[in-house]
Amino acid sequence: MIRAFTLCCVLILTLVGPAAAGTPPQAAPKPPTNDDCLACHGDAGAVRGDGRSVAVKPEVFGASIHGAGGVACIDCHADLAKAAEFPHPEKLAPAQCASCHDTAVAAYDTGVHAQARRTSGNLTAATCADCHGSHDIKPSADPDSRTHHLRLIETCGRCHGNEEIIKRGKIAIGNVVDLFRDSIHGKALIKSGLSVAPTCSDCHGNHDIRRKSDPTSRVFRKSIPDTCSKCHTGVGRLYWESVHGTQVAKGSPLAPVCTSCHTAHDIRRSDVEGWKLEVIKECGTCHEQSLNTYRDTFHGQVTALGYSRVASCADCHGSHHIFPKADARSTVAPANVVTTCKKCHFGATASFAKYDPHGDPENHARNPFLFYTSKFMKMLLFGVFAFFGIHTGLWFARGMQVKTAGRMRRRKGQDSGEDGE
Ligand code: HEC
Ligand code: HEC
Ligand code: HEC
Ligand code: HEC
Ligand code: HEC
Ligand code: HEC
Ligand code: HEC
Ligand code: HEC
Ligand code: HEC
Ligand code: HEC
Ligand code: HEC
Repeated sequence: MIRAFTLCCVLILTLVGPAAAGTPPQAAPKPPTNDDCLACHGDAGAVRGDGRSVAVKPEVFGASIHGAGGVACIDCHADLAKAAEFPHPEKLAPAQCASCHDTAVAAYDTGVHAQARRTSGNLTAATCADCHGSHDIKPSADPDSRTHHLRLIETCGRCHGNEEIIKRGKIAIGNVVDLFRDSIHGKALIKSGLSVAPTCSDCHGNHDIRRKSDPTSRVFRKSIPDTCSKCHTGVGRLYWESVHGTQVAKGSPLAPVCTSCHTAHDIRRSDVEGWKLEVIKECGTCHEQSLNTYRDTFHGQVTALGYSRVASCADCHGSHHIFPKADARSTVAPANVVTTCKKCHFGATASFAKYDPHGDPENHARNPFLFYTSKFMKMLLFGVFAFFGIHTGLWFARGMQVKTAGRMRRRKGQDSGEDGE
């Protein structure tokens, strides 16, 4: 009924159009108004040929930033701007945003989502409407907006936290959203509602999101320290001064960036025991020799057992302000090492600090005393084993001899007993 009625209205409209155009100066037909469109699409039961809804709730559109701001249906659905005839074609061009948001559109076009759609036909990649919605768009400052700081995890998470879409969209890194929710940043956003905690767009951008392999990406290896330092300014400054930071600045692919030690989406509080122990292994992936010698010391063995009370690498070397021993700023430089030990060994003296936390018994040049002590202990051990080994061997042989002799004697005795029976 309603449909038939609206169609009639439209028919009247289209008939009136040409009639008004009778006078030459008003030759162009009037573009359709929102009411014209809503005459059909405002009907809650309006559907396409394939059964999908094409209904638009007038009150929802009216409350959106566009509806409230006087943007017309045909501003976005631009191919109907001149249409004077209804029903319009079944297939329409996608809604356009560029006429008003050219900067956002241009930035989006350089990003990974647009690129994936364009170059590999990956239609799972996000469009404007996937992140913003279509008829219910709110400004990001509105807590109900899909792009509000505290809601963006859900919005990106619809794809990056959904196993089925990850598979279909070939998202190589997998589900990062579940990891992120449990990280210190995720918890600060979700549980504490902390607006200064980072959400996806703080590290990736919003429209010009790039792959990590792209040198212009915010998460390209060399750019990561700057991305984190936007907020962690103090740590960033120390890091760029350190041996690791200077190596990265020079383009070294070997020195660590923030995420090498902290990860990207699974960042945890730095003072929890488990993490402190894990980061020791992380230092060890690059400083294998230092880790091995550390493991031979008291500190290294206690941490290997799972206790973080004793010194870890970072307790002696620092975490961000790390320098070679020869640098006067180093916490293990000869002038500073006593102070470093004193953090925990309150009575430490210069001679206490002579103890080598990386003592290597195989390295004569570095630790001659340890080298000879170790050699001596090994020889002693070998000597003891050799002596008692030979001793036990001889004892065993002698024992066997006595045993066999005893058995022979018993058998002889038995033989003579049989005779007696
Ligand atoms: C006479 C009723 C009627 C009017 C008036 C009307 N539409 Fe439609 N519209 C339809 C129907 C029916 C469909 C479903 C077409 C199909 O079967 O796929 C549709 C589909 C659409 C679609 C989806 C197209 C697609 O490719 O899936 C859009 C967008 C649309 N209309 C926008 C508008 C706009 C904007 C206006 C006003 C300028 C408008 N319509 C006016 C009836 C109407
Ligand atoms: C801010 C831009 C914008 C405005 C204004 C706008 N639309 Fe849309 N519309 C979209 C987007 C985006 C889509 C999603 C599909 C696409 O990208 O074309 C869409 C989809 C549609 C569809 C297809 C069904 C659906 O919901 O996906 C219809 C029908 C439609 N719009 C009608 C209207 C009508 C009627 C108005 C005016 C009351 C209107 N639109 C105003 C952006 C807009
Ligand atoms: C991957 C998700 C995503 C996609 C795709 C996306 N946006 Fe955005 N957009 C955002 C986020 C996030 C913000 C900013 C939120 C904030 O201000 O913190 C934003 C902000 C905006 C703004 C506000 C002003 C500005 O530029 O910061 C406009 C306008 C906008 N987007 C339009 C668009 C248009 C048009 C498209 C399609 C070409 C698009 N967006 C695609 C996520 C997206
Ligand atoms: C006819 C012009 C026009 C078109 C077309 C248009 N918009 Fe807008 N849009 C506006 C105006 C005006 C505002 C409100 C002023 C502002 O904050 O920029 C706005 C605001 C927005 C905002 C909120 C910005 C903020 O402050 O957070 C987003 C997001 C947005 N538009 C997305 C879109 C998308 C997506 C499309 C295409 C589907 C689109 N717009 C099409 C005019 C338009
Ligand atoms: C509608 C689903 C969808 C939404 C929403 C979405 N993405 Fe994506 N995103 C994809 C798909 C699919 C790819 C894979 C593109 C490719 O590699 O071909 C991708 C790729 C990426 C990449 C590059 C990784 C790669 O594997 O190449 C990053 C980074 C990214 N998205 C971040 C975001 C962020 C941040 C948001 C939210 C602001 C977001 N995405 C929202 C679907 C989505
Ligand atoms: C604190 C900063 C930060 C936040 C917040 C963050 N990411 Fe990341 N993300 C990174 C870094 C750094 C990388 C690069 C990882 C690497 O080098 O292994 C990355 C990588 C990715 C990739 C793979 C990129 C590629 O090219 O392979 C995707 C997809 C992604 N992030 C999505 C998201 C989504 C979705 C969110 C929000 C839930 C998010 N990220 C939040 C820093 C962040
Ligand atoms: C070589 C490994 C490593 C790198 C690289 C690294 N960190 Fe750390 N970070 C640590 C360790 C270890 C701690 C724990 C320090 C402690 O508890 O004494 C830490 C602690 C932190 C803390 C907590 C505050 C503090 O100083 O105790 C923040 C914030 C932090 N790091 C951010 C960053 C940022 C940002 C970057 C990159 C600019 C970065 N980290 C690079 C190992 C690293
Ligand atoms: C938008 C600002 C912002 C960005 C960008 C950011 N962080 Fe944070 N980060 C925070 C805030 C705020 C907290 C404190 C959260 C809390 O304590 O609840 C935090 C906490 C941390 C902590 C735990 C500190 C502690 O006390 O143990 C580490 C480690 C950390 N961030 C590392 C990083 C790394 C690595 C990056 C880059 C990949 C990064 N952050 C990017 C704001 C940011
Ligand atoms: C991703 C690899 C990597 C990780 C992880 C790493 N480092 Fe380094 N580290 C390097 C590189 C590369 C250098 C520079 C070596 C050079 O200048 O030849 C370096 C230099 C150093 C130096 C100066 C000594 C020297 O040989 O120049 C110290 C001390 C050091 N790192 C300690 C640490 C500690 C402690 C950790 C863990 C908290 C750590 N590193 C984690 C790669 C790493
Ligand atoms: C108890 C404190 C302490 C701990 C724990 C410790 N170190 Fe050291 N480290 C030192 C001292 C002191 C030196 C200087 C030794 C020397 O050459 O005289 C040093 C030297 C180094 C050097 C060589 C520096 C240079 O300039 O030649 C590296 C690399 C290093 N340590 C890495 C590590 C790593 C990785 C760990 C953890 C697996 C670790 N350290 C644990 C105190 C410590
Ligand atoms: C983060 C705290 C911490 C730092 C820094 C530290 N140690 Fe220790 N160290 C311990 C703890 C705890 C023990 C366990 C024995 C104890 O309670 O005294 C220990 C044990 C030792 C032991 C074996 C047991 C003993 O007391 O004889 C030696 C040797 C030692 N440390 C040397 C050093 C030297 C040298 C430095 C400085 C280069 C240093 N430590 C820095 C915490 C630390």
